[in-house]
Amino acid sequence: MQVVLREVHDSDLPVFYRQMNDPQAARMAAFTAEDPADWDAFEALWKRIRSSDDIARTVLADGDVVGSAAVYGVPGEREVTYWVDRAYWGRGVATAALRGLLAEVPERPLYARAAADNKGSLRVLEKCGFQVSVTARGFANARGEEIDEVVLTLEG
Ligand SMILES: CC(C)(COP(=O)(O)OP(=O)(O)OC[C@H]1O[C@@H](n2cnc3c(N)ncnc32)[C@H](O)[C@@H]1OP(=O)(O)O)[C@@H](O)C(=O)NCCC(=O)NCCS
Repeated sequence: MQVVLREVHDSDLPVFYRQMNDPQAARMAAFTAEDPADWDAFEALWKRIRSSDDIARTVLADGDVVGSAAVYGVPGEREVTYWVDRAYWGRGVATAALRGLLAEVPERPLYARAAADNKGSLRVLEKCGFQVSVTARGFANARGEEIDEVVLTLEG
């Protein structure tokens, strides 16, 4: 499967919206928007992202829109994030997408956060060179409770 990153197009947003409203994926990610079903808030968020210094990319697998990957935040504290459509899980898409993003964005360190039980995401980050730096507690909207969160760092 050929994984490619490109700029985000308007037509990708409904696809991202559907992916982020997949209950199984949202539960896994845990730290989601307060109300992922709020389209207006979702659209406003992407408008902000696309007009900011964040680097947001659409992930294509063999030409299909299968997810998103981004680097966001203020300089010195920039974090990576990604999301892959459940139909494509377990085929190396997130790992290839994150590798592509890291090749595009030279700044280091970069940070990442994942629910402590999000083994798939932690594995993707580990394969791309991130190391666990600290664990914390945080309120996870998709779980409705405070859970353990892992912060990881990719040094230069
Ligand atoms: C996490 C996510 C991005 C992974 O995407 P993916 O394309 O399936 O990831 P990859 O195929 O590149 O790699 C997944 C790795 O995790 C492993 N993995 C997946 N689920 C696992 C689990 N439950 N326990 C242990 N390992 C797991 C896979 O075996 C693979 O490792 P390997 O290459 O050593 O075999 C995807 O599940 C997703 O989008 N989830 C919802 C959103 C989310 O959680 N985003 C991250 C927020 S921090």
